[in-house]
Amino acid sequence: MSITVRAPAKINLVLSVGSVRPDGFHPLDTIYQAVSLYDDVTVSAADEWSVSVTSADVDLDDVPLDGRNIALRAGRLLAEHHGLDRAAQVHVTKGIPVAGGMAGGSADAAATLIALDRLWELETSDDDLLALAAGLGSDVPFAMVGGTARGTGRGEVVTPLDDDSSVWWVVVPSAQGLSTPAVYAEFDAAPGIGSGRAAPDWSGLGYEQVTRALRNDLEGAALRLRPDLAETRDALGAAGADAVLLSGSGPTYLGLVRDRDAAHDVVARLAAAGIDGVRIATGPVAGAHVVEYV
Ligand code: C5P
Repeated sequence: MSITVRAPAKINLVLSVGSVRPDGFHPLDTIYQAVSLYDDVTVSAADEWSVSVTSADVDLDDVPLDGRNIALRAGRLLAEHHGLDRAAQVHVTKGIPVAGGMAGGSADAAATLIALDRLWELETSDDDLLALAAGLGSDVPFAMVGGTARGTGRGEVVTPLDDDSSVWWVVVPSAQGLSTPAVYAEFDAAPGIGSGRAAPDWSGLGYEQVTRALRNDLEGAALRLRPDLAETRDALGAAGADAVLLSGSGPTYLGLVRDRDAAHDVVARLAAAGIDGVRIATGPVAGAHVVEYV
């Protein structure tokens, strides 16, 4: 028997970052949105732990396949939580850019927790799953919850928001990934540049208000580490996006557009400017959920 769970990429519509805490993490006030790029995680029973990763369109060079792999760490953590000496075979089909600031690793961890909970018929409570998720990474709980949600603490405290809008994003990945800790360290190197502003109440904002509300305190740090990303940002604006936003700690850039046709127009103009590998996504979408029992 095998079970497949699908988990979405996330973006941060607003990312307010405070001064580094004694534990090395930064206090966040963020508005998360789950968007329609997905990783599928398939688990099946096995005597030894193993993980494999395939993708039709994502560069997999930066994905570790040893004990550092976050899906494997998630599986082991769940077994340990229940005092079980069990293993599983884990396969990840990646659609989320790796090291792109879209929480692809977090999606894999969330999906693995849910898939193994079902495979092993553990009936772990939602509270316990969310606590295990938080132990694996700051945005793993959000990958379970999905939709649009406020994130506080280091990002792991997730409060779902009412959001009946549906928005379109043009997603421009970068050929080279960016390390999240490196971006936060660069943020610390220029103190005082955080906005210090709380995330606004997101519910009920119209499209024009959304275009003005998008912001990311990590953008300056990411651009200092990767000045070339300014070209991507400017190209998205020139191609007709209504607002341009760095995704999380980057390097993926996002263009907000009104509808599907506008998204395709922006993609075509980017291609004409020599920027390929661009995707289209909508948000919000559901958090990690079972898509197949075989
Ligand atoms: O929680 P996660 O493992 O995803 O975090 C990866 C790294 O990103 C942390 O080790 C830390 O350097 C940085 N981080 C941070 N503040 C946060 C979230 C992440 O400094 N709120």
